[in-house]
Amino acid sequence: MQVPLLDLKAQYATIKDEVLAAVSEVLESQRCIGGPKVAELEEKIAVISECRFAVGVSSGTDAILNCLMSLGIGAGDEVITTPFTFFATVGCIVRTGAKAVFADINARTFNINPELIEPVVTEKTKAIMPVHLFGQMADMDPIMEIANKYNLAVIEDAAQSITSTYKGRKAGSMGTAGCFSFFPSKNLGGIGDGGMVVTNDEQLYERLFIMRNHGSKPKYYHKYIGGNFRLDAIQAAALLVKLPYLDKWSEGRRRNAAYYDKKFSGTFVQTPYVNSDCVSVYNQYCIRVPKRDEIAAHLREKNIGCEIYYPVPIHLQECFRYLGHKEGDFPEAERAAKEVLALPIYPELTDEMKDYIVDAILEAENI
Ligand SMILES: Cc1ncc(COP(=O)(O)O)c(C=O)c1O
Repeated sequence: MQVPLLDLKAQYATIKDEVLAAVSEVLESQRCIGGPKVAELEEKIAVISECRFAVGVSSGTDAILNCLMSLGIGAGDEVITTPFTFFATVGCIVRTGAKAVFADINARTFNINPELIEPVVTEKTKAIMPVHLFGQMADMDPIMEIANKYNLAVIEDAAQSITSTYKGRKAGSMGTAGCFSFFPSKNLGGIGDGGMVVTNDEQLYERLFIMRNHGSKPKYYHKYIGGNFRLDAIQAAALLVKLPYLDKWSEGRRRNAAYYDKKFSGTFVQTPYVNSDCVSVYNQYCIRVPKRDEIAAHLREKNIGCEIYYPVPIHLQECFRYLGHKEGDFPEAERAAKEVLALPIYPELTDEMKDYIVDAILEAENI
């Protein structure tokens, strides 16, 4: 048997005609950038995220960058975030000229530990950027409390967590703004790059809107120094086709997670912990195991796709050596980087496939 980490062809087969028709409509119209499809997608993402405003952008990375730039964050400022995330979170902070300051993660959820945020707040801190990792929202109440106490912006990196909830509140709706990625492997994935920023702040919305088109308003009169963060109509059209299926697909992921949880219960495999306040959308299902690398190699030998998110925590990345961090600075992030292993969780998995994966892992206990 062969089980890839993600099988986008299986998903595409179920919506192919709809996607082709939607793409063809855009091509016939030749409104290739922005336009009615992007506006419709913005409206619908705002609704499902329970936010007043949404701005379509070129990627999840550009969603974060646009947010930081629109909030006026730059040289001399500090932004507190997690060292256990995809590079883009921190790369964007640093690209604005601001300094990334880390707070270690909670060992169970992999998300930033709110108790470690306040001790690193300084006079220069302008924002907190929690990341809702693997599909589960960070512990937002204490994060918002700290933000309110010190008057800080909160940018939710919800790239992996569209529609997931915390105490019934949607990802992206609790902070100053939320950022989504439509990278093809995301729960709502495009047919290329795309992203979106959501917010309830009208002034910020106007800035985000202008900033995504080189900061110009009106055309050729530049209010701010922005960028080309525009979203292609073809992406919006494909995403509009997929959007009605999103909840069903996330439910399929949750069903698969429950299946794995049950099969791994009482074994050496540590399954993902979901906070009782949260509903996860399981963009990833990451187990923790000893001898992770050996187990990953064993799975690959059996034609089972798996991945390590993330093998090197951000504070130990070569490009951030100048920050002066060393091994031991953020021990939970470092330990997670050594133990996590993402298994196939996509909704089209069959029970037979899941059993094959579970058996392969359990037989690797004494590898
Ligand atoms: C946590 C996180 N932040 C940001 C991004 C960046 O999104 P994109 O790849 O759409 O630029 C990703 C994408 O993988 C991500 O996982």
